[in-house]
Amino acid sequence: MLTKKCVLLFSGKGSNIKNLIDKQASLNGKLEYIAAFTNNPTAKGIDICSDNDIEVTISDQEELNSNLINFLSKYKPDLIILAGYMKILPDDIVNKYVDKIINIHPSLLPKYPGLNTYEKVLKNNDLYHGVTIHYVNTTLDGGPIILQGKFKIRKKLSIKELEDLTHKVEHKIYPIVVKWIADDLISVKDNIIQFNDKTIYSPITYLVDEMSI
Ligand code: GAR
Repeated sequence: MLTKKCVLLFSGKGSNIKNLIDKQASLNGKLEYIAAFTNNPTAKGIDICSDNDIEVTISDQEELNSNLINFLSKYKPDLIILAGYMKILPDDIVNKYVDKIINIHPSLLPKYPGLNTYEKVLKNNDLYHGVTIHYVNTTLDGGPIILQGKFKIRKKLSIKELEDLTHKVEHKIYPIVVKWIADDLISVKDNIIQFNDKTIYSPITYLVDEMSI
């Protein structure tokens, strides 16, 4: 069995990378987190990586994309996980690693790409909110969707409460997708998701009961 080599890209507190690393044992050695990269020298995720013996490359802003290119050339990952990496990847990187980059976004895409999703959800009194995990292509937050976690907003929430609920859903579903990839269940071909060699025409949705998150 070949172990897939995976790198983690992050910019902030790193709750998703911590959650993924904590659940690595469930991947049965099929996928390993070998290194991480951040654009933020004060990101809390750096400590999480250090605590888990994962080497982190910390880049300055001026050389960010050339440092990232060098990082990826050095580690030659089979999978690149974006977990709160708040920089847009340049097209040449996306094209070089096409079908190998996944991202988590805190909205039910195609609703609310970009920033400030919680504000938009609350302002629009949305009945549902959730999380999307997708392959990355050259359209911002626009790549093929692998899995969405969705929940009903049952009462008036503050931004912080909505964010906390959303993070709980992220922590439920990102490990599911990584395990699918580790187990070779998911792939993407010509921008279309394949699950167990069957074409998936609309996103798989995990409906989460708010009471359980
Ligand atoms: C997560 O909510 C993730 O969905 C979001 O950043 C947060 C990172 O949290 N990503 C984006 O907004 C990307 N467009 P974390 O640092 O605790 O994992």
